[in-house]
Amino acid sequence: MSERNVPIAERRYAAPVPEVPERPLPPTGLIADRRGRRLHDLRISITDRCNFRCTYCMPKSVFGKDYAFLPHASLLSFEEIVRLTRLFVAHGVEKVRLTGGEPLVRRDVERLVGMLAAIRLPDGTPLDLTLTTNGSLLARKARSLRDAGLQRVTVSLDALDDAVFRTMNDVDFPVADVLAGIEAAAAAGLRPVKVNMVVKRGVNDHEIVPMARHFRASGHILRFIEFMDVGASNGWRMDDVVPSAEVAGRIGAVFPIEPLEANYDGEVAERWHYLDGAGEIGLISSVTRPFCGGCTRVRLSTEGRLYTCLFASEGKDLRALLRGGYDDMQIAAAIGAIWAARDDRYSELRSADTAGLRRIEMSYIGG
Ligand code: GTP
Ligand code: 5AD
Ligand code: SF4
Ligand code: SF4
Repeated sequence: MSERNVPIAERRYAAPVPEVPERPLPPTGLIADRRGRRLHDLRISITDRCNFRCTYCMPKSVFGKDYAFLPHASLLSFEEIVRLTRLFVAHGVEKVRLTGGEPLVRRDVERLVGMLAAIRLPDGTPLDLTLTTNGSLLARKARSLRDAGLQRVTVSLDALDDAVFRTMNDVDFPVADVLAGIEAAAAAGLRPVKVNMVVKRGVNDHEIVPMARHFRASGHILRFIEFMDVGASNGWRMDDVVPSAEVAGRIGAVFPIEPLEANYDGEVAERWHYLDGAGEIGLISSVTRPFCGGCTRVRLSTEGRLYTCLFASEGKDLRALLRGGYDDMQIAAAIGAIWAARDDRYSELRSADTAGLRRIEMSYIGG
């Protein structure tokens, strides 16, 4: 296996342990990074495992039968996740998204959801708590997740056509079960359901209009994502990317649409709506219209490494602090220092110079 193909490459390297300031100050909730961006969203990967093998994310050639996933002892426990989340909240985080791998394969995920749902922001309100899933276990779990305090879900779905979908997930999983999961989520009150479609030219771009047709007027929000060069195992090429402008053109030719104002500063998806009132769609253009300027996101890996960019080559080992006897004030101060030093804007810089960088896999860090 060549160096570029080594999955989860960073596991071959010890992650640096963050510096703990000698005289930690209490978190103020107002740290800015070196580009003036606030910390607002925490994305937590709770497992590196997934029951799908999407060809653009966990290709079987790399994530085969012998692939060594993280051992249980490496994972942050629910108690550790909650302890860290409280410290992030003290630094201004208001939104938490659970990801994976596939987060619903982590045992007892509802218990974690319940623990996170009990956290209060400084003004007494709960977190905006959501989860990104492939939908395969949603029909079974939507109700218990809602009861535990989950507010919304985002479901990844790349095609409506059963044969295309089975080929893309590469485990022969039927599309009907994911569609049932989406409906179960909405019925349980996890609304609005967002549906993420990663578009790859020649693979599922012919599904753009059928997907738009299916989800129009459903109350769910379909978002089209440009295929990204994340990780080192998906064989990304610019030729595979269908620019969002083209997606908008193809949909608009059938169902007229126009752009909407963003819901909030730094929103990842550009919102559009159907002129006939059939709801909205989103375009996520990380390749052709990067949104690093408003990036307020930080990512915590399954084993407790903190990444300040989806394309970072290195995370900081917060687990070492958690298990090394540091107190909350010290860990919070270390987190604050990591954010304050952050200068990432990979998608804006993406070029020949960045192509060879060591990058983490999406299945390790979450979407
Ligand atoms: P909500 O507004 O809470 O629904 O979430 P969101 O719009 O942030 O959407 P979501 O978390 O589902 O992200 C959708 C997709 O956008 C991800 O699967 C990624 O493909 C991409 N994405 C999200 N955040 C980033 C980011 O920080 N950088 C890049 N390059 N892509 C991102
Ligand atoms: N490019 C864009 N999006 C991706 N996702 C996974 N890999 C990629 C990629 N290479 C998306 C999934 C899911 C979320 C977890 O990330 O489709 O919606
Ligand atoms: Fe699993 Fe999601 Fe990656 Fe597909 S994109 S292999 S469902 S983590
Ligand atoms: Fe944020 Fe990095 Fe994505 Fe830019 S590429 S939006 S800095 S995570």
